[in-house]
Amino acid sequence: MGLDKSPAILRGRRLVLGVTGSIAAYKAVSLLRALKCRGASVSVVMTDSATKFVAPLTFEVLSGERVTTSLFEAREEMRHLTVPEGAHAVIIAPATANFLAKAAVGLADDVLSTMLLTAQCPMIIAPAMDGGMWEHPTVVEHVRMLRARGVIVLDPEEGPLASGQVAQGRLAAEARIVEAVEALLIPQADWLGHRVLVSAGPTQEAIDPVRFISNRSSGKMGYAIAEAARDRGAEVVLVTGPTALVPPAGVEVVFVTSAQEMADSLCRHFAWATVVVMAAAVADFRPREQAVQKMKKQGRMSLTLDLEVAPDILAMLSAKRTAQVLVGFAAETEDVVAHAMAKLVGKGLDAIVANDVTKEGAGFGSDDNAAVVLSRGGRRKEFGLMSKRRLADYILTEVRDLPVTCRTSSIGVE
Ligand code: CTP
Repeated sequence: MGLDKSPAILRGRRLVLGVTGSIAAYKAVSLLRALKCRGASVSVVMTDSATKFVAPLTFEVLSGERVTTSLFEAREEMRHLTVPEGAHAVIIAPATANFLAKAAVGLADDVLSTMLLTAQCPMIIAPAMDGGMWEHPTVVEHVRMLRARGVIVLDPEEGPLASGQVAQGRLAAEARIVEAVEALLIPQADWLGHRVLVSAGPTQEAIDPVRFISNRSSGKMGYAIAEAARDRGAEVVLVTGPTALVPPAGVEVVFVTSAQEMADSLCRHFAWATVVVMAAAVADFRPREQAVQKMKKQGRMSLTLDLEVAPDILAMLSAKRTAQVLVGFAAETEDVVAHAMAKLVGKGLDAIVANDVTKEGAGFGSDDNAAVVLSRGGRRKEFGLMSKRRLADYILTEVRDLPVTCRTSSIGVE
């Protein structure tokens, strides 16, 4: 497995790697490197006997995190007794026959087996044991029990064992373990190899140091697109206006305020991107001048603001594109499809996601949305009310499947 060439497909994923006392413990060092190279953050937990084979310091240096080794050390900080919050999976590699037995029946006499009883996330166990043990009826029964509970147990491989015997007992190859982690956490990696630039949220155009013009965009749709693209294997940069949302992990986030800042940031990342999804609600107009001091109302009966047109970012990007696929959004209140089609053509886009923001339960601020996706090749797909996260997946599938005539770069699996 070419470590340095591995795409960071596991970025944003938090893993716990449990290492038990088998001679194959040294292979967990390389497994840790492979998982880290794929972008995962990994906390290592070792049983006491594992520390007899490999020093915790090795894992500590390579993971960049403190290694948990003992129940008693863990008690100093009770949180170490539980699987770290937000962990996406626990991987036990290598797992001894003794550890399989403890995991199967729920014994909790060391830090790793205690943690397992608190795990809410999926688990992958890669056993390693000496000749004959794997076929012993108790081991077979424990594996059956674990699998019945949904634990993924990777069969050990056949070959020469440390004892000199040739039997089924070698730890599954590193590539198999990494593949199992990927298949578990990234079930659909159809955006692997793509670099997706997403804009989200409103922009704020300053009137004076305390006032601005903005709009009702919450940013939820753009954040959902960024998260979905990440989950499907893409590298993602999210350029976001001010929102109340927590940005998705594993995504590079650029915070901006005005349409100009958003334009500048998107232009900077444009050459890098293969696909741009413009979900931001960018201001169309901005005050021609910003007052340096807070404007006073004293003596005034009315106020007229002089607004100038803000940069049309999509039109700008469209004019300078090389091979990027451009996807716009159209938030409309009437004649949704006709207006969206005019924007698709006018801005030179490959696809546009049109939605009626007056629809009950959809649009600004809502967790749900309904949309029609139009593409330059004449395709039209309607999606009823659903969560923005689910709609994001449908939008990505539509963009991936754009008719070849309107693609400016390949969206297929690479
Ligand atoms: N957009 C943009 N720059 C702007 C305004 C909009 O890049 N200054 C993008 C939006 O992010 C969206 C698409 O253009 O992807 C359509 O935005 P929308 O506000 O619906 O369209 P406008 O072109 O502004 O037209 P109108 O406001 O007249 O409907």
